[in-house]
Amino acid sequence: MTHTFRTAAVIGAGTIGLSWTALFAAHGLTVRVSDPRPDLADAVDEALTAFGPHLAAQGLDVDGLADRVHITADVTEAVREADVVQESGPERVEFKRQLFAQLVREAPRHALLLSSSSMIPATAFTADLDDTGRVLIGHPFNPPHLMPLVEVVPGAHTTEEAVQAALDFYTFVGRTPVVERREIPGFVGNRLQNALSREAMHLVQQGVVTPEDLDTVVTHSLGIRWATTGPFLSSHLGGGPGGYRHLMEHIGSALGDMQLGEPSQHPDDLERVIQTVEKAYASTPYADLAEARDRGQLAVMTALENTRPQKGN
Ligand SMILES: NC(=O)c1ccc[n+]([C@@H]2O[C@H](COP(=O)([O-])OP(=O)(O)OC[C@H]3O[C@@H](n4cnc5c(N)ncnc54)[C@H](O)[C@@H]3O)[C@@H](O)[C@H]2O)c1
Repeated sequence: MTHTFRTAAVIGAGTIGLSWTALFAAHGLTVRVSDPRPDLADAVDEALTAFGPHLAAQGLDVDGLADRVHITADVTEAVREADVVQESGPERVEFKRQLFAQLVREAPRHALLLSSSSMIPATAFTADLDDTGRVLIGHPFNPPHLMPLVEVVPGAHTTEEAVQAALDFYTFVGRTPVVERREIPGFVGNRLQNALSREAMHLVQQGVVTPEDLDTVVTHSLGIRWATTGPFLSSHLGGGPGGYRHLMEHIGSALGDMQLGEPSQHPDDLERVIQTVEKAYASTPYADLAEARDRGQLAVMTALENTRPQKGN
């Protein structure tokens, strides 16, 4: 398996695939994008135009970005010369099973085969396929051309060599890969996000807080904290000089008394939450909300980068 990445194939050009495409091209890769959507050419053009400034702000050279991106509706054509394939199609086991059967057959034997899957572990769609040692999950956070984390999750048959190649690849394109050794639906990031989202929905359903105020609670406290220290380091610091041990011994047992809620999944209750969220946000166009999010996230990452000690100091 080669560790030189010159040509990437992106299969599926929706929210995630378009963002990967821009990122890979900005790192000098030739990118072949495949998607049956009839507006593929326009979607790619729009994405490169919209994401170009974000990539330039990360210090990447975006001159000639579009020249390195080629589109095709034909998966075979897209993967023919690929060193790496990043599948970003629909989140359905059967889709991924059929596509990876084709990728294993048609991509060059050295090509690394990665799936952006958010929930479905690789073993679920490769169990009955041969030659799947080079298949694994590379789960990004949206949008991957900005968010650094990629969860690298090997399946039951993934080789160590493929795991290392995935780490090399994501490092090459400027991401921060983390290997997770046991497959679990949703992996780590989405499970954590889901834990918070469930309690958020419970609090709104109970009338404790509105969706907008809950978002303000997060963006003005936990969001800022977690951009610098994750939950464990935050708790360690929250314990004062006695650290995590002190916090657990003195507050740990009280954490269980909070009785976190189980949000109602009844369609009427879900509909009520959906309507309040839409009332808060749906009058602003999606593109404007996404642009504001991307600008803000980029500003946070740039600010954090500037707080790191400079080399030689
Ligand atoms: N949206 C997110 O926040 C997010 C984050 C991380 C990972 N993911 C994962 O990334 C993957 C893509 O998600 P998305 O949000 O971009 O979905 P999306 O619906 O925006 O895009 C999926 C694309 O796949 C295309 N497609 C359908 N059939 C295809 C085929 N046979 N060959 C090639 N392309 C085909 C569709 O036309 C569509 O453009 C999913 O596995 C998802 O779980 C999504």
